[in-house]
Amino acid sequence: MPVSRRGFLRLVGTSEGPAQTAMSGAFLAARGLEAHLAEAQAQGQRARPLLPPGVDEIRISSNENPLGPGKTALDAILGKFPEAGRYPFNSTPADADLVAALAGKYKVKPENIVLGAGSQEILKSAMRAFVSPTRSLVTALPTFENCTGFANKYKLPLTEVKVDSAMRLDVDGMIAAASKGGAGLVFFNNPNNPTATVHGATTVADMVERIRKASPDTVILIDEAYHDYVTDPSYQTAVPLALSIPNVFVARTFSKAYGMAGMRIGYAIGMADTLKPLATLKMPYNVSVFGAAAAIASLGDPQHIDDERARNTDVRAFTVKALQDMGTRPADSQGNFVFVDIGRPAKEFREACAKQGVMVGRDFPPFEKTHCRISIGTMDEMKKATEVFRSVLKATTTTASAGKDGR
Ligand SMILES: Cc1ncc(COP(=O)(O)O)c(C=O)c1O
Repeated sequence: MPVSRRGFLRLVGTSEGPAQTAMSGAFLAARGLEAHLAEAQAQGQRARPLLPPGVDEIRISSNENPLGPGKTALDAILGKFPEAGRYPFNSTPADADLVAALAGKYKVKPENIVLGAGSQEILKSAMRAFVSPTRSLVTALPTFENCTGFANKYKLPLTEVKVDSAMRLDVDGMIAAASKGGAGLVFFNNPNNPTATVHGATTVADMVERIRKASPDTVILIDEAYHDYVTDPSYQTAVPLALSIPNVFVARTFSKAYGMAGMRIGYAIGMADTLKPLATLKMPYNVSVFGAAAAIASLGDPQHIDDERARNTDVRAFTVKALQDMGTRPADSQGNFVFVDIGRPAKEFREACAKQGVMVGRDFPPFEKTHCRISIGTMDEMKKATEVFRSVLKATTTTASAGKDGR
């Protein structure tokens, strides 16, 4: 049954009553988004704040696609409700059909793909498989915290290499750390969350070659969650490297440009031997029937991704210019978010924006005193959000000035 986006949202819409517990934006901001969500959910509370009547919430805190899945994907989900009673191995489509669709896209065999419940399952499995008390994680600072968080939680050895002055991953530093010996896994996020900077194909290939030479047993995970948003022509996916060089693999997700963060579909792609430990650790039936149906449909609709990239590029350019015009300093962005030097603590800025319904990103140490991560919403949302940023930056008095803290 074909359905419009609006019709779909009406069909499955939620009803949230004012009787539910209100939690202030300030609290949300102070605790950090993930901590807040975990706490609220554990207490059975609403996980997002209720705003005063008339204030629309603009959620630009989590690098989501503000438009959600494309129409092709939505139609596929709706059509598959009758399959909800089936396990994903026994449904139409089955999880194996998604693996086959991905294998077709990359012209590889099914054993070159491992599905995850979001790419976070892939990252977590990589930590379990390749990092141990004697095999360290080498990662960046700041970067997506999943692997770092795992290392900290289980007290595993960890080297965090700070980004350079342009907020780019310090490739030489990461190579040096990985080459010392004893590194089990290198987490290389390209483009990097939260900085949104990217490295070109030659740099990535050179990094892989140098790490492989110095430490052939080290596994290199290249996380390309934001691949579809890159416009820098020097960038290329590392998938061909992963398919031809042992101990290298790429993680991808349907959560970003595909607009399916709530559907939880990610995957690893690489040589079968490299991925074997991830395949072993994979939870059975880790993707849902709806997720598989939507992802397969999306893979058949590449125009939607091209349109989404173009839309994001436009809104990103608008946002970057607006931020520059108000005197802040955004780093080069190749994702659907911008890391910007606002010259004051992110917490202070986040709390002030939250009071006006604009939710921006969490703290990213060591830059939490100067930088904030802002995700790219729709053009309409960003026009409103940048007005809020302007008023907040004008109103807040601070002793810090842009760039003073150093990078
Ligand atoms: C770099 C990076 N990798 C992986 C993920 C996880 O995505 P998911 O588990 O939704 O696929 C994110 C989410 O923000 C991310 O920024």
